[in-house]
Amino acid sequence: MKMMYCIPFLALILLGELVKGSCDLKIENSLLGDLIRTVLKLKGSDNGCLCINKKTTPAFSAILTKPQSLGVKDTIKFDKVVTNIQKGYNPSSGIFTAPLAGVYQFSSTVMTYSGQKLVVHLWYNNVKMSGVWLKGSAHESATINMVLQLQEGDQVTIKSRESNKVYSDSDNFTSFSGYLIAQ
Ligand SMILES: *[C@@H]1O[C@H](CO)[C@@H](O)[C@H](O)[C@H]1NC(C)=O
Repeated sequence: MKMMYCIPFLALILLGELVKGSCDLKIENSLLGDLIRTVLKLKGSDNGCLCINKKTTPAFSAILTKPQSLGVKDTIKFDKVVTNIQKGYNPSSGIFTAPLAGVYQFSSTVMTYSGQKLVVHLWYNNVKMSGVWLKGSAHESATINMVLQLQEGDQVTIKSRESNKVYSDSDNFTSFSGYLIAQ
């Protein structure tokens, strides 16, 4: 239905631009490109473009609902899945595996036991990309943020550097999220 109205309308705009006598081939090409992309989007047949679609855009959030004891390089297993579009996040391993290549945003907030040390990093495959080092007199929290260009199958995790305990409870103090920004 929408298409029926949009195509003639867009064709008119395009024609108008051409008739105006623009000699700039680049502008004409980009207008044509816009028109083609719009039509493909309306038809829903542009498989290469995720177009911020709530069924296809990889996006997840998971919460740690109870404390977890961690050894050296242990992965925090955020056990309660809140969102998991494309099922990239696995709550039993704590590992996010990119279902599609692209630019992703990740963040994780962690809380210490009261007065105890906690050192965790966001790992991109085998690389510690960013970390936090916490030890205060009470519960301490910190958030890690990273934007990463992933290939399909690349893994992102939150791991401890040493033997620590990460705190959380039903108030959802510790969590891990990520989503695709662009392909
Ligand atoms: C913690 O998060 C879970 C999942 O979103 C939710 O069901 C629960 O109510 C939250 N806890 C509190 C105390 O709001």
